[in-house]
Parts: sequence; C-alpha cells; structure tokens
Amino acid sequence: MPDTLTDSSAFIPQTVTPPEKPLPLVRGLLQMIANPLHVWPQAMYENPYHGVRWIGRTFHYFRRPEHMKAMFLDHADIFRKSQFQKKLVGPALGEGLLTSEGEHWKFQRRAASPAFRIDALRAMVPAFSSSAEATVERIKKAAATRGTVDMMGEMQHATLDVIVETILGGADPNFGYDHIATTVEDYMQTMGKPDMLDMFGAPTWVPRPWGGKGRKAAAGLKRSAVNAIERRRASGETRNDLLGLLLAARDPETGKGLSDDELRDNVITFIGAGHETTALTLTFSLYLIANAPEIQDRLLREVLDVCGDKPVTAAMIDAMPFHEQVIKEAMRLYPPVSLIDRVATEDIDLGDVQVKKGDFGFALIYVMHRHRMLWDHPERFDPDRFSEERAKGFARFQFMPFGAGPRICIGMKFAYMEAIAILATLVRALRFLPNAAHTVEPNIRITLRPEGGMPLFVEAR
Ligand code: HEM
Repeated sequence: MPDTLTDSSAFIPQTVTPPEKPLPLVRGLLQMIANPLHVWPQAMYENPYHGVRWIGRTFHYFRRPEHMKAMFLDHADIFRKSQFQKKLVGPALGEGLLTSEGEHWKFQRRAASPAFRIDALRAMVPAFSSSAEATVERIKKAAATRGTVDMMGEMQHATLDVIVETILGGADPNFGYDHIATTVEDYMQTMGKPDMLDMFGAPTWVPRPWGGKGRKAAAGLKRSAVNAIERRRASGETRNDLLGLLLAARDPETGKGLSDDELRDNVITFIGAGHETTALTLTFSLYLIANAPEIQDRLLREVLDVCGDKPVTAAMIDAMPFHEQVIKEAMRLYPPVSLIDRVATEDIDLGDVQVKKGDFGFALIYVMHRHRMLWDHPERFDPDRFSEERAKGFARFQFMPFGAGPRICIGMKFAYMEAIAILATLVRALRFLPNAAHTVEPNIRITLRPEGGMPLFVEAR
C-alpha cells in the first residue's frame, strides 16, 4: 500500500497507551469502570480474537472484519442487543429506535426512514450551514477573550442546534444548549458507565445510589420531549420534519400510529444519538488538523475552491471529498461508538469460533480501527488512506464507525453531510492551532469522549 506521509510529516495523535499484559481481575474491573481503554492489552491490537469465560458464559472479543460481518449482517437475527446496553441508555432512550427489537423496531425504522432519504437530507443543509456560521461567531468571540477555546463544548452546541432544528423544526425552549449540555453530562457521568454491580451481574432492582443524578437527568429529558410534542399537537401544524413524520406514521398492516411514549422515546433518541456522536467526530477532527497544518491547508484550499465565500450547499458538500476523508480518518482513530455489544440468542458456529446461546459478542471498533493486521501505520493521522484509490485496498467491515447490517446507523448520511458542512465553514474562517499543555485522553462512556474537553488555540483568518 503506498504510504503518502513521510516520517517527518506524520502526526501521531495522542491516545491511551494499552497495558502490556492483561490486568489482574479486580484491577481490570476497576479500570473497566474508569476507562476500558486502560484494560485492553497491546496484544488485542495485534492478534485477531480472544474469548474470556466468566460467570458461566463466554465474552467474545471480536476485532476481525469477518467476525463483524457474521455478527452484524449474516447472523444479525441471532446476535441481539444486550440488556447491558439497555441498562446504559434505556433510562433515557426508553423503547425508541435505538433500543427496541423485533417488530417494534421494524415499525419504528420504517416510520423514521423517509426523514433520512437523500432529498430530505439535502433540504437540511441550510440548517447545517447556519449553525456552522453561528459557531464561527461564537468561537471568534471566545478566542478574543480567552487563551484556548473548548472545541468539545462548541461542537456539542453546534450539533445540538442542528438536531433540534431538523427534528423539532426550530429552536425549542426545552432543548436549549446549556440545559441539555448539563443534562447529558450528568447522565454520562453516572448512568452512562457500567458500575460494579453490573460487572457482577446484579439485577437492576438492586439500588444504585449514585444513579440518582442520572435518573433525574433522564426524567428531565423525557419532560422536555413531552412538552415539545404537546406544543406541536396544540399548534395543529403539519410539518415534514422528523417529529411531523413520526406523528403521521402508520403501520401499513395495522394502521396503528406511534403511542405517546414511543413518540417521546424517539424524540430523545434522535436528539441524543444525533448530536453527541457528530460533535465528537468534529471535535477530534479539529484536534487532528490543529496538529497537522498541511492537512488543514489542504482543507482550506478545497473549501475556497468549491465554496468561495458562500454558505455551504448540498452540491458543494458532494464536491469536497478531502473533507470526507479527514472526517473518516478522525472516526477511524476515535470512533465515537467504540464498542458495540450483542448477546447470542442461539448457538452459532462461526468457523473458527463457537458461540453458545447466552454468550456476549463485543465488537471492539476502536481496537479494529487501530489493528496491526489491518492498517498500515495505524497510529498515524493519514486522511489519504481514505482516498478513492487507497480505500479499495481494505475490507468493507474493517471500518465500522456507524455499525453495519440492518441496525446500521440511520443517521449516517446525515452525519457525513453535517460534519462536512460544519468543518468546511470553520476551516474557512478560523485557523486551529495545537495546545501542547493539554493531554488528549479518550475515554469510553457510552461514546468515546476526550477527558476534560478539547481546548485548542484558535485565530480568525
Ligand atoms: C458521526 C456520527 C454518528 C455515529 C458515529 C453514529 C454511530 C452509530 C452506531 C455505531 C449505531 C449502531 C449501534 C448498534 O448497532 O448497536 C447507530 C445507530 C443509530 N444512530 Fe447513529 N451515529 C451517528 C450519527 C447519528 C445521527 C446524526 C443520527 C440521527 C439524526 C443518528 C441516529 C441513530 C439511530 C436512531 C440509531 C439506531 C438505528 C437502528 O437501530 O435502527 N446517528 N449510530
């Protein structure tokens, strides 16, 4: 595979150094709660598979594209979402599209799909661009008064504005940035991580006193969603935004619509699943280009050539492939969803691995994206590995930031278009510079977040 980066120009981004050997059990469990990246030993990035037997079942740690295909596509009906995932996100997302299964999931996926067709997405681009323009102004102001600006906060603000606009059809008093940022943070820091009782398989009715803050956050989100739905109903308006489509959706077989609880759960699902992940993709992209000035210059040239000084449109997004390459490389190095788990509902023979009913399958996306057997210099930031030519050289399932198979992210195209529009608008107006005083330490909560945010130096161009 051609290597376009010379050693002197290659930027090696910071991350957690994996332990050389597996940790002893108790230390491993404690570290798992603090940050799973500290538990997965170096060997996992070098060999293709291992399984661990614990409390009567096997935990399969998958990081080969063939195993991903088996789990997410070929045997998707056998590998179901686990209670563990539901325990983490269920209190907030209820039984919406992300967490439901079977016929209930199918109905909701059918109902939501029209909102994610390409023509619907192209109509959303002005919302992406105007949120990006507002973000530029906010960052300029912050940079004028402070040394560094926290890009994680700024990107969460930008993507929350986009998702509230496109889902609820306009700014909503219940989903203001400050309120939602605190709520999501409270949730992630409490219920968004496994606790010791989960590790030992304690049932959910065993009280978890530290979850109080998280439960309050989940209840607050639910109230906000119910208020937004009630306001829409009271207005009598019919609109083509996602809430409008969900309100109008009918099951073709039964004629049944979504219940009030389903509507509420999906509003929270789309706002939750749709803003944090895209914000993290942009946050890590900005960190990477701040430290790779020649890549930042190539982005600047592309946006100036394609967009000039005009707001980014859908046609311009199609004409900026290097922006997409940078975003893909950021998601390879820091996949916002770094770990996806499933549970086997039947015995299944994967050829080299025998999976028994009740076993867990862990798709280690973060590990696969940095695996020595799959990538050339995996630790390097090299967006050209996603050029049309070089991307032909790797397997379909070795890059999986959006999952795969029937449960693949419904918002994938939305996320690419939004991230390209925002990145292009930011790079055109601002120069991002490294912050040597800050150590970047990604940490898996539900998503892969940089500990302590992402303070960067920024200058107006
Ligand atoms: C860079 C941004 C994003 C990333 C990395 C991402 C990642 C993922 C992944 C990995 C899954 C599959 C989870 C599993 O199999 O258990 C998923 C599902 C989902 N995502 Fe995204 N996502 C992103 C953006 C979005 C956006 C913008 C939306 C909505 C506007 C969204 C809505 C959803 C929903 C509703 C599901 C559940 C789909 C189903 O089960 O049918 N995501 N996402």
